[in-house]
Amino acid sequence: MKDGIGKEFIKKTQHKFMGPPDQSKGKPQPPIELKYDTTKTIINLPAPSSITVKDMDLRKTIENRKSVRKYLDQPLTLPELSWLLWCTQGVKEVLHKQVTLRTVPSAGARHCFETYLLVNNVEDLQSGLYRFLAVNHQLEPHNLEDPHIANKLTKACLDQSMIRKSAVTFFWTSVIYRMKWRYGERGYRYLLLDAGHVCQNLYLAVQNINCGVCGVAAFNDEEVNQIIGIDGVTQFVVYLATVGKVR
Ligand SMILES: Cc1cc2nc3c(=O)[nH]c(=O)nc-3n(C[C@H](O)[C@H](O)[C@H](O)COP(=O)(O)O)c2cc1C
Repeated sequence: MKDGIGKEFIKKTQHKFMGPPDQSKGKPQPPIELKYDTTKTIINLPAPSSITVKDMDLRKTIENRKSVRKYLDQPLTLPELSWLLWCTQGVKEVLHKQVTLRTVPSAGARHCFETYLLVNNVEDLQSGLYRFLAVNHQLEPHNLEDPHIANKLTKACLDQSMIRKSAVTFFWTSVIYRMKWRYGERGYRYLLLDAGHVCQNLYLAVQNINCGVCGVAAFNDEEVNQIIGIDGVTQFVVYLATVGKVR
């Protein structure tokens, strides 16, 4: 088989080729979160500290981790969604240099993800696309106007029907300059590693709210970016996960 871009990517993103990143050239650090449309009604999620979830044995939770693609036609509650958002991207602390510490690790605490949610079946939430505002633990309605958005996103993900049938699907997108500012081209590797940590927390966290989850990386990048409304260059979709009730 002919060598493709993958081999070159791994070679050219080796640490020794990193070069001086923008941070060391004194360029300003990008913001820790994208701005949101202040004309929209922002939804305050139940505070993570107020949410009670049943205790789980760590060994059993890890043993029982699995991908689940069939869900019951039952809604998640808003506290349950809040719990999952906190487990995947929850901000525990904002440090003085505008750095966040979260429930997941991230190379250099760069945390380059913005989470979008396709909400199909969550109590007290209109169906549609939302963005998680991690710093204040809120939701920004992002696209509640398009009644076909669930079908469009399903089609863009190679018709994996679990997206349309999920109670909620998480879309993790990367704002790449947050990574590149410190790590240059090597940042493209780090964000992929970061995404694994995020989704693994989701795989574990769904278990104490009677939900199942499936990570999804088979999607048409351009279509998903376009439907979400991001440019695919400065911000692009990295990974998805469907979630729904299982009992
Ligand atoms: C990076 C990644 C991408 C995946 N993409 C898909 C996908 O597009 N569709 C799907 O049905 N499952 C997807 N999966 C789930 C895997 O198929 C699943 O993890 C694997 O079959 C092992 O099953 P288990 O998770 O139950 O142990 C993905 C998993 C990972 C980690």
